Formats: sequence, structure tokens, C-alpha cells
Amino acid sequence: MPDNRGVDGQVANGQTNGKKGLFRGGRLQGDGGLSLSYARTLSWLSLLVVLLVSLGLSFFISNQARQTLMERQEGFALLLAQNLNNQIFQRFAVPTILAYGHIALRQEEQHDRLDGVVRSVIEGLPVSRLRVYDFNRVVAYSTDPSEIGRKGLAPLNIGGAFQGELLKPETVSDIDVWKMPLHWPLKPNTVKLRVLYPLRGDAYNTGASPVLGVLELTQDITADYAQVLLFQAAIVIMCLMSSIIMFILLIIIIHRAERVLSLRMQKNMQLEKELQSTERLVSMGRVVASIAHEIRNPLGIIRSTAELLQRRASSKSDKATAMLMQAIYDESLRLSQTVNDFLDYARPRQPKQDPVDLELVIGQILAFVEGDFARDNIVVESHLCGHLWVLGDKDLLYRALYNILVNGRQAMKKDGTLILRTFEREDWAVVEVTDSGPGFDPDTIDKLFEPFFTTKDAGTGLGLPIVRSIIESHGGSVHLSNAEEGGARVEVLLPLAPVEVQESCGAQKQLSV
Ligand SMILES: Nc1ncnc2c1ncn2[C@@H]1O[C@H](COP(=O)(O)OP(=O)(O)OP(=O)(O)O)[C@@H](O)[C@H]1O
Ligand SMILES: [Mg+2]
Repeated sequence: MPDNRGVDGQVANGQTNGKKGLFRGGRLQGDGGLSLSYARTLSWLSLLVVLLVSLGLSFFISNQARQTLMERQEGFALLLAQNLNNQIFQRFAVPTILAYGHIALRQEEQHDRLDGVVRSVIEGLPVSRLRVYDFNRVVAYSTDPSEIGRKGLAPLNIGGAFQGELLKPETVSDIDVWKMPLHWPLKPNTVKLRVLYPLRGDAYNTGASPVLGVLELTQDITADYAQVLLFQAAIVIMCLMSSIIMFILLIIIIHRAERVLSLRMQKNMQLEKELQSTERLVSMGRVVASIAHEIRNPLGIIRSTAELLQRRASSKSDKATAMLMQAIYDESLRLSQTVNDFLDYARPRQPKQDPVDLELVIGQILAFVEGDFARDNIVVESHLCGHLWVLGDKDLLYRALYNILVNGRQAMKKDGTLILRTFEREDWAVVEVTDSGPGFDPDTIDKLFEPFFTTKDAGTGLGLPIVRSIIESHGGSVHLSNAEEGGARVEVLLPLAPVEVQESCGAQKQLSV
């Protein structure tokens, strides 16, 4: 688990030392989580408010619509009653009084005359019934002849009309409004509009003439009422639908926000872990530096003393002592190399940003290792592309590429071929090193960048970690794989130097040649 472990082997358990940024079991906690749950509660509340307001508004609007319709119906009913009063006065009352001297509706002739007037006026209009009451509240005339002469049919509030009051028309229904959807579709005459109108002896009901009786006009307004109810239902359903759509959108937004936050928190945690690991490395680097300081000087003294004693023993032909001294010298040399490697890894140097021709560096390395390769009968095949300019630290890049080449030689042991390729891929300078050795062990390939992982007796296991640290500090990357034809392949990618740098460097080079 290279990413979860620090140098001291401590395993990060997903809980940082700090106060925030906790992520457990997929639930978000900490500052981000808190503010999100706050936002969620707020969203729910605002949704509730929007829902209530829109519902209230929809009821208000649809009620307004119903009232407007009712006012129109009432206006029309009053107009009709007034017209009836007018027609009855002009076409029935006046001629009847002139002809008979008084009005007696029980007389068939008078009744038929009134009936003729009434029916000619209400012909084609949605009038379901019309009654005329006398002062005893007895039905003196009705469009339903069976009601004539009956008492007790007059509504309770008819008294005002006898006094000459113009009463407001009222809506009458056997079914409660809220129960109407249960009786859908509504039958005719479910909702009626009733007008009680004082019949007077003048055409326009000015109030100057006495009240002769009361006219009760009943209209069937069920169809219009049903339309309004449908309209009301449509508004409420639309409000509900838009609230539901808003609600779904809100849920989607909250979920997205949660996902983004969770990713961000995971990234933060990763960064925190990396920071901790870097801090550990820095503190370890300090300790190592002080230890190295303490070790280096006595080690140098041991090495030079061993060399001196070895020379003395050789001059005295004391071969046994000379061999022992040589061993001390070799080991102290190896030990100081290890200390230096350790220091390089623990205290990585900040690379310079000089223009570096990677091919020149490779040439220098090859010249240096030529002897060793030839001794082990290893052939180096170079396929270089000319010049490969990068910005960086020549010494560090030399070190990294040298480590890769040495690993290849050590893997092949004797008799092999090391193929070196350089080329450009998009904005990257690529150095590819393939050897004909056994290749990387697939079981351990993931561990090769871990410090101190080695399969060699005399190895420190710091070679590849140093390579990676150097290449990454240059903004590049290192990739390990096995070639199809066998053998290990190491691919190093470094950002190409900008074109201006390459051009000016190329010119300098030509001048210097
Ligand atoms: N070209 C290669 N072919 C096969 N295995 C390799 C190759 N290069 C590296 N390895 C494996 O990777 C391990 C780690 O390499 P690394 O360079 O980090 O350390 P090392 O070579 O063992 O020691 P050091 O470089 O400090 O002398 C090696 O021990 C070896 O097992
Ligand atoms: Mg090595």
C-alpha cells in the first residue's frame, strides 16, 4: 500500500490528525459536511415554503376565477329577473288590470296570459324554475303547475324581498363543494343559482311602486360550475407538478453537491496524507543528515587509514593483512555510498532549470560505463533522435539515468543487449531503456519504487525511488514494464523544453561546434 503508508510504516486510517476533513463509512462529516447538511435543511424548508405559497396562490387564483364567474352569473340572473319584472308589468299586469280591474292568477285566463309572458322571456335560457309568491308566501305562479297554491316552498330569507330589498343571488347545492369530485360528472341541477326579486308595479323596479309579490328565479349553473372546478383542479395540479419538478431538481443538485464535496474531501485527505508523509520525510531527512554528518567523517578516516595500511602491508608483502585492509576499504566505500544515497532520497535537491540535452547526458553516462559493459560482454544499442532538450538539473538527470542503466547491467549480469531509445511524444521527451535480462518480477513490480525494496545482496533499494523522485521533481514520470520480447523496460518522460529554448540552445551548440 504505497499510498497509505508513511516512511515509518505507520498506516493512515482515514482519520487525519487535524480537526476537520473526516470521511467515515461514506458519510460526510466536518465543516464541508456540516455546511452541506445546513444547505440541505434550508433547501427542504424553502421547498416547503414554495409548496405552501404556490398551493395558497393556486387556491386564491382559482377562487378568484370562481367568484368572477359567479358574479357574472348573478349579474345575468338579476338582469333576467329585472327583465321579467318589466315584461310581467308591461305585458301582463297593465293589460290584466285594464281588462279585469284586478289581478287574480287563479283565473285560468290570467294564469295563461302570465305563463305566456314568462315562457316567452325565459325561452332558450338556462332557467330551471320560476315561481311568483304572494304576500301569504303561497305560490301564485310556477313554471311547474303542480306547485301553484302550495305554501311552505318559499325560502326563509324571502321576507326581505317582500320589504322591497334587492337580495344578493345565492348558490344552492345539495352536495358540499369538497365532495363534488366524488360525484363526478355532476348531474344537471346539482348547482343552482337562486334570485329572489320583488315584483313591483313599475318597469324598472325603482322602488317608487309597491311590491306586488316576489319572483323566485332558479337557474341551473352546474355546467359552468363544473368548468370552474376543473379549472381549479388544473391550477392546483400544475402547482403540485411544478413543486415536484423543483423538488426532484433540488434533490439532484444536493446529490451532485454531495458527490463533489466527497471527492474534494477525499482529495484533501490524500493531500493531507501526502503532506504528513512529506513532513515525516523532512524530519527523517534532518535526522539522517545529522547521522550522516556523524558517520561520514569517521568513515572517511577509516577508509583512508585502511588504504594506507593496505599499501604498507603490500609493501611488506603481508598479503593476509593487505587483503583484510582491502576488505575494510571496500566496505567503508560502499557504506559511504549508501549514506550518500540515503541522503539523496531523504533530502531531495530542488532541481535547477537549465537547458539540458538529454542525449548529451546519455552520451556521458555511456562513456563512463563503457568499460563495465564491455567487461560483462553487454552490447549497447542506441537509437537516439538527435537532440532532446529539457529544462532541469544536468547532474540529477545524469544520476537518474545512470541508476536505470546500472540496474539493467546488474539484471543482465553477463552477455546481453541494452537498447536505448530517445524520441519525442507530443510535448514529452522520452528515454526508453530495454534490457535483455529476466525482466521485472510481476509480483513485486508494484513495490519497486518503495524505498529499501531490493532483491540484491548488496543493494540499498534506493536506486529506483531516487530515479522517481528526481524525474518527478522535473515534472516527469517513470514507467516500469516488461518488453514483449522479454526483459525489463523503463520509460522516462520529461517535459520538452519550450521551442525558444530549444532553438537558442541549438544555435549555441552549432556555434560551439
Ligand atoms: N532492469 C531490471 N530488471 C529486473 N529487475 C530490476 C531491474 N531494475 C530494478 N530491478 C528490481 O528492482 C529492485 C529495486 O531496484 P533499485 O534500483 O531501487 O534498488 P537496487 O538496484 O536493488 O539497489 P541499489 O540501486 O541501491 O544498488 C532491484 O532489487 C531489482 O529486483
Ligand atoms: Mg539499483
